[in-house]
Formats: sequence, C-alpha cells, structure tokens
Amino acid sequence: MEIDINELSPVKEDFISLHQTTGWNAKGLYTYDQLYTAICNSWYSVSIYHNRHLIGFGRIISDGVYQTLICDVMVHPEYQKQGIGKKLMEALINKCEEEGIKWVQLFCAKGKQEFYKKLGFVGRESEAPGMSLFI
Ligand SMILES: CC(C)(COP(=O)(O)OP(=O)(O)OC[C@H]1O[C@@H](n2cnc3c(N)ncnc32)[C@H](O)[C@@H]1OP(=O)(O)O)[C@@H](O)C(=O)NCCC(=O)NCCS
Repeated sequence: MEIDINELSPVKEDFISLHQTTGWNAKGLYTYDQLYTAICNSWYSVSIYHNRHLIGFGRIISDGVYQTLICDVMVHPEYQKQGIGKKLMEALINKCEEEGIKWVQLFCAKGKQEFYKKLGFVGRESEAPGMSLFI
C-alpha cells in the first residue's frame, strides 16, 4: 500500500473523524476544537495518508531535551494490523533520536502492551510506577 507520511498537523475535519474512531472522547471531556488545538501545540506530529485520507496519527509532547511523551497514537480501524502503527511509531522515535533525546515515555492503553513491546518499550519498575491525578 502506498502511503504518505507528513509532519504537518492534519486539517481539523480529518483529525476529528480519525479521533472519533478511537472512542476516546466518549465522555466529551474536551471539545473537538480543544483536542485539535492540543495536537497543533505538539512538539512533533506524524500524519499518515492513503489516497489523501488521514489513516494514522501520533504526536510527541516534549521540552526538546529530555522529557518526552508520545501520545494520541491512532490508526483508522480499517487500516489496523497492516504495519501503519509501527511506521507511525518509528517516525516518532526517529525524530527523538535525531534530536538526541534518550528517554521516551508513553501511557499504554489496555490491550496495547504487545504493540509497544515489539517496538522496544518496557514497563516501568513497580517501585517507580507512573502516577496520575484527575482534577
Ligand atoms: C494500537 C494501534 C495504533 C496499532 O496500530 P496497527 O497499525 O494496528 O499496528 P501494526 O499493524 O503496525 O502492528 C505492529 C505489530 O504490533 C502488533 N500489534 C498491534 N496491535 C496489537 C495488539 N493490540 N495486541 C498485540 N499485538 C499488536 C502487530 O501484530 C504487529 O506485530 P508484527 O510486527 O509481529 O507483525 C491501533 O490498534 C489503534 O489505533 N488502536 C486504537 C487507538 C489506540 O488504542 N491507540 C493506542 C493508545 S496507547
């Protein structure tokens, strides 16, 4: 399959329809305008297109030196299990390598551990877990 990989933010309508396939905003915590503003404020993002349709997206929030979080990695359901997610992640990781970043973090959604493990990610030590605060 011929795909295009692009570093520019996707247009809002494309991003929203891809995001809706994930069901992540089911509780409507944020408006789609807010989510779009969020991705446009990323340090780096990767969009993948097939026949000009946005089929994959992922982004990095970073200070550009050492704190780096990969988030919002998504592939359209019709294109999953075809290596698109892996290509997305490789592009994000390559950018980190190019910039000399040595430590990349992410939050893994339920059931996606194997996907990230295959890319070399490991879970945090149980004595040093990630923590969150909902406010
Ligand atoms: C997670 C996601 C991005 C994976 O994208 P994808 O394009 O289907 O993944 P790929 O086809 O590139 O898979 C790469 C490898 O990981 C494996 N893999 C992918 N998803 C997997 C899963 N859920 N469980 C186990 N293995 C998985 C593939 O089998 C493949 O293995 P291989 O290299 O040995 O053939 C995609 O399922 C998705 O967008 N899900 C909905 C949104 C989401 O949950 N994002 C993750 C948030 S943390």
